[in-house]
Amino acid sequence: MKLLASAGTMAGALIHELKNPLGVIHLNLQLISEQINKGDVPDKSYLNKKIDVLIKQSDTLNRMMADFLDLIKEKQLKLEKTDIIGIISDIENEYSALLQNKGISFIKYFDKKNIFLICDRMLIKQAVVNIINNAAEALSASGRQDKTIYVKAGHYRNFVRIEITDSGPGISSKMIGKIFNAYFTTKPSGTGLGLPLTKRIIDMHGGTITVNSELGAGTQVLIDLPRKR
Ligand SMILES: Nc1ncnc2c1ncn2[C@@H]1O[C@H](COP(=O)(O)OP(=O)(O)OP(=O)(O)O)[C@@H](O)[C@H]1O
Ligand SMILES: [Mg+2]
Repeated sequence: MKLLASAGTMAGALIHELKNPLGVIHLNLQLISEQINKGDVPDKSYLNKKIDVLIKQSDTLNRMMADFLDLIKEKQLKLEKTDIIGIISDIENEYSALLQNKGISFIKYFDKKNIFLICDRMLIKQAVVNIINNAAEALSASGRQDKTIYVKAGHYRNFVRIEITDSGPGISSKMIGKIFNAYFTTKPSGTGLGLPLTKRIIDMHGGTITVNSELGAGTQVLIDLPRKR
């Protein structure tokens, strides 16, 4: 398997993250050992609870390693003529039930009747899904009345521009510099790999991703993909 040159830097971040589940596993094994060596009959339900924790934490470790490999593996782009409007409409269909459930409306707007681009369809879709997920998560955590995600696509100079805007809580200027770092997350069950992976996908296409955000006002993500490569 070919790995990215920057894998080393990211491995440091991974190792830092692995310490948490490993610490929990160590502590629980110690508690199990104490319980077994107590002499009297071990408390079965107590042991089962501890073992449950061990299973969950080892699942977490597994997922973290799989996610990490996905991030650092050298990807081969499968370039094909791709209908960008089609990608966005597919995402809308696939996610409509989930978004409705959270009271989020999805509004799309296209500058042109057809927006085609030579790109890796699956990866670009994955990138847009990651951004839409972040917008949806920000909106559902915000407790706002108006929960809307706007997705716009069109031509901008020599690029195809995909613009995703939410009216969520926004990102503070202190945090905005960190959001593309591997494992940076403010969510209890976030991995913090969504944006770094998205940026990699856009970089591989020779494009750029820009995040504009204002605390209390919302967040806008611009993805610019060159039309000629
Ligand atoms: N639209 C947004 N509004 C507010 N904050 C955001 C938005 N998008 C990203 N962020 C911030 O950037 C952080 C990093 O985002 P990223 O997608 O990399 O990881 P995550 O969403 O926390 O976890 P994962 O994507 O792995 O589920 C988020 O935890 C959040 O704090
Ligand atoms: Mg995310």
